[in-house]
Amino acid sequence: MHAGVQPSLRCLITAGPTREHLDPVRFLSNGSSGRMGYALAAGAARRGWQVDLVSGPVALPPPESVTIHRVTSAAEMFRACEPLFVPCDLFIAVAAVADYRPKSAARQKPEKSGDDLRLELVPTIDILKTLAARKRPEQTVVGFAAETHDVEAHARRKLEEKNLDWIVANDVSRPGLGMDAESNTVLLLARNGARLVFGPAPKADVAGFILDHVIAASRC
Ligand code: CTP
Repeated sequence: MHAGVQPSLRCLITAGPTREHLDPVRFLSNGSSGRMGYALAAGAARRGWQVDLVSGPVALPPPESVTIHRVTSAAEMFRACEPLFVPCDLFIAVAAVADYRPKSAARQKPEKSGDDLRLELVPTIDILKTLAARKRPEQTVVGFAAETHDVEAHARRKLEEKNLDWIVANDVSRPGLGMDAESNTVLLLARNGARLVFGPAPKADVAGFILDHVIAASRC
């Protein structure tokens, strides 16, 4: 590399929901559209960064100039992220990862019996917490917190417990904002105490706000 030429930043982003299969056709999931994660990936690519987007099943086209890694379950998402986290400068976990999966998945679609049915669930891996625990000093890690109440307190707790540099909190109890919506209002909290509010605004503008603040304040 020539002296004075900056290597491009490497950014890893998770987006969308995960699906935890009960059998070949049924699964547990959530209503995440993937829009916020895709907007961040597009914004990072526009800034000239090298972007790996690890995405659960969504109906969105991949952003231009982004390397997409399609996954289904939380376990697959973790396996895809693990090697990509090592060389990344910035990791942003936006995915709405299922917290539980069925303890066992049937290989064939079971017939209904008409009786009550109990599902036994086991926790999935916390991708963000596991990778942030391996964070090197020069890496920056950003999490999201979708909350329905006590938004700031819950987000601050996750910032500490998951060893994050930043957390983006949003109140998903408000109709038309947040998950599966076009717009978002976010509260951006930093480990160093910074507290910023942005929105309501289209997710592309929210993505720009997050990237600009995180990058201006980080070591990368
Ligand atoms: N996350 C993750 N892996 C999981 C669960 C969450 O990587 N198994 C990440 C999300 O991508 C998000 C952050 O952790 O960046 C917070 O997710 P959230 O669902 O708000 O919090 P949880 O840790 O799952 O806690 P709770 O469901 O109790 O609010």
